[in-house]
Amino acid sequence: MNNFDFHNPTHIVFGKDRIFDLSSLVPAAAKVLILVGGASAEKTGTLAEVRQALGARAHRTFSGIEPNPSFETARKAIEMVREEGFDFLLAVGGGSVIDATKFIAAAVPFEGDAWDILLKRGSNITQAVSFGVVLTLPATGSEMNNGAVITRHDIGAKLPFRSRHLFPLFSILDPTKTYTLPVSQLANGVVDAFVHTIEQYLTYPVNAPLQDRFAEGLLQTLVDIGPRLLAATEPNYDDRASLMWAATLALNGLIGAGVPQDWATHMIGHELTAQYNIDHARTLAIVLPAMLQERRVQKHDKLLQYSQRVWGIHEGSEDQRITAAIHATRDFFERLGLPTHLGAYDLGQEAIDLTIRQLETHGMTRLGEHGEVTPAVSRRVLVAAL
Ligand code: NZQ
Ligand code: ZN
Repeated sequence: MNNFDFHNPTHIVFGKDRIFDLSSLVPAAAKVLILVGGASAEKTGTLAEVRQALGARAHRTFSGIEPNPSFETARKAIEMVREEGFDFLLAVGGGSVIDATKFIAAAVPFEGDAWDILLKRGSNITQAVSFGVVLTLPATGSEMNNGAVITRHDIGAKLPFRSRHLFPLFSILDPTKTYTLPVSQLANGVVDAFVHTIEQYLTYPVNAPLQDRFAEGLLQTLVDIGPRLLAATEPNYDDRASLMWAATLALNGLIGAGVPQDWATHMIGHELTAQYNIDHARTLAIVLPAMLQERRVQKHDKLLQYSQRVWGIHEGSEDQRITAAIHATRDFFERLGLPTHLGAYDLGQEAIDLTIRQLETHGMTRLGEHGEVTPAVSRRVLVAAL
């Protein structure tokens, strides 16, 4: 096992009706800016519950944070916080609202051009406004980590950043808040959590059996509940709760502590979202099966382990078992309704050329656990995903 630091201060408040705990979680004297996406928080009644729980605290709402949140929209909120002196931010939404809130929290006290935060990947953040989260979409893990991803439309960039100042103070995880999600977002959530786990598990062995078992437990749970979540005519509380907790645990630092990490699939996926506005998880479904096929030699030992322990494949030669595991992964995504080819989005060779250029522009030229995913390798992956 590799050396590691693990520090995660986010207070998780899990279960039905926990939104009312906001009355004690938010500092009593706070002046609160609630941040939401489009219409969902209002329509579902969650926003009304949040306002009620805040009681007598001064608060206003900033709405309009879009999926794949933009620098441009975040800037408006930054102005509002500075002008009106809010000292606590409350994100009510999915990964996009949470990520935008993290960026706003860091940018408000930041001197200079806020885009520098992205260019330096967050290493220049020295403080942030405190913030909490009410999660409405289990997928990204942003509710219990210190990372975020922001899109800037004028230059077609979608870049990640992180800082130790950006853990939420608390996150409220009420599984019943997922009941209003469309099936497509539920499927996205399953796949995003699945691929987060894969990025930290499917690399090379470092004798970390506990992390492996954690990761395999998450993967098996997602394989188990994914199709059931989609097929259910009525939401099942326990399955929703399992999804919510699995998605959080998949990216809160626990399973990635002391093991190598990959993230090449994510970095290529971010470029596809920035250029073609494909949902985050859907880009991962396109890239991952082709990535595993391309890197099957480097990932040989873990692919075999994955094949046996996650998919229960015991028959055939080593090569056949690896092929079967990659096939099972692709089939899982397709069964959840996420296509695994660029062609499904009418994208071809031109899209590959642009994606590779953008990866180069953003310095994403030595990706993966060994830094071996060069633009040439990324190109082969995308060609295989045509
Ligand atoms: O905008 P509204 O009207 O709120 O609708 C949203 C949005 O259209 C809707 N929604 C959310 N909760 C709902 C709901 N609809 C009905 N009922 C509810 N309870 O769902 C749509 C998608 O929401 P979004 O927040 O965009 O989805 P997700 O949570 O998948 O977040 C995606 C973003 O997170 C980033 C992605 O790149 C993308 O920008 N990621 C963040 C990570 C992190 N911070 O650690 C890691 C991830 O790998 C990922 O990159
Ligand atoms: Zn992701």
